[in-house]
Amino acid sequence: MSGGDKGAVVTLRWFDAPGHGRLEMIDQTRLPAVFAYLPYDSAAGVADGIRTMVVRGAPAIGVAAAYGVAVEALRLQSLPRQDFDEALDAGFALLAASRPTAVNLFWALERMRACRARQGSTRQGSTSSAAIAATLLAEAKAIHNEDIRINRQMGEHGAELLADGARVLTHCNAGALATAGHGTALGVIRSAVAAGKKISVVADETRPFLQGARLTAWEMVQENIPVTLITDNMAGHLMAHGEIDAVIVGTDRVAANGDVANKIGTYMVAVLAHRHRIPFYVACPLSTIDLSVPSGREIPIEERAPQEVTGFRETQWAAAGVRVRNPSFDVTPAELVTALITEKGVVEAPDEDKLRALFDD
Ligand code: MRU
Repeated sequence: MSGGDKGAVVTLRWFDAPGHGRLEMIDQTRLPAVFAYLPYDSAAGVADGIRTMVVRGAPAIGVAAAYGVAVEALRLQSLPRQDFDEALDAGFALLAASRPTAVNLFWALERMRACRARQGSTRQGSTSSAAIAATLLAEAKAIHNEDIRINRQMGEHGAELLADGARVLTHCNAGALATAGHGTALGVIRSAVAAGKKISVVADETRPFLQGARLTAWEMVQENIPVTLITDNMAGHLMAHGEIDAVIVGTDRVAANGDVANKIGTYMVAVLAHRHRIPFYVACPLSTIDLSVPSGREIPIEERAPQEVTGFRETQWAAAGVRVRNPSFDVTPAELVTALITEKGVVEAPDEDKLRALFDD
């Protein structure tokens, strides 16, 4: 078995078996009531797992997609090269269509494509389908392990921003469950706690999918990190009463100008933080920065099913037939972001020049 971060929950894991293997992912739609892994051995299966949010959170989606390519390649490895290449292209397309906003999905698929391209094309090369599948699996494992390392680096940089005793509000789940391990925003909190600071977390429940109530609160309870759950409309009240010292969130895509797409409701929290002069930090691996989109306006925002707003699971409380909007993400303008926390360090008041400089070697 490979993957995972000591201490934190193991969101995805790989089981090796001669000639094939399988990906297993915690079914996050059932947490916290049920803790169970689901097995995946095809790109279609992994794409479905991403679409239905068995796995969610930008970095975890990226790692899952990379394994999605690998399991598909292993499944197809007995085909002759040309058939293998065509069928694998179809697998890439399925994965790319699973969710639109988190750029880590496309970043990971691009890395897997580049890895395949390095093996040579059908016309050029004699590399066997099985050899390519093995190389793609190695690349997926590398992406998996890098994600954990990067989260730990972000954690160390970000922990320095938090004072001992800080009360930190977070929105959605940017924890171990949203990554290959440790987490981005919750990774900063974990690292600060590991450094001996007494940190307490205020978790927005995060309507409508309840990632804060179901996932963030669960992760913190598992590790005995003090956590208080609130509904999303309570954040302003707590800030006005001096009960929040900092906000840390994750992100699904940061545009070239520093605008930040994250879970719906993040923008509201950022505006409130600005009003109350509370620092608003965004934990952001470089794989989440998309220099190809000039501003947040060009970031595709996923619109999800109306049933998520009219009720939860089998309980529906709104009038049948009511018109619903359910944008799953919003954009926080760069001017409201105090700093991005990246694996290369903290970027205060992010702008295009500072973001581009992160990619200079
Ligand atoms: O719809 P989700 O649950 O995939 O949305 C997740 C978020 O918005 C997270 O904050 C973001 O992906 C960062 S996770 C480290």
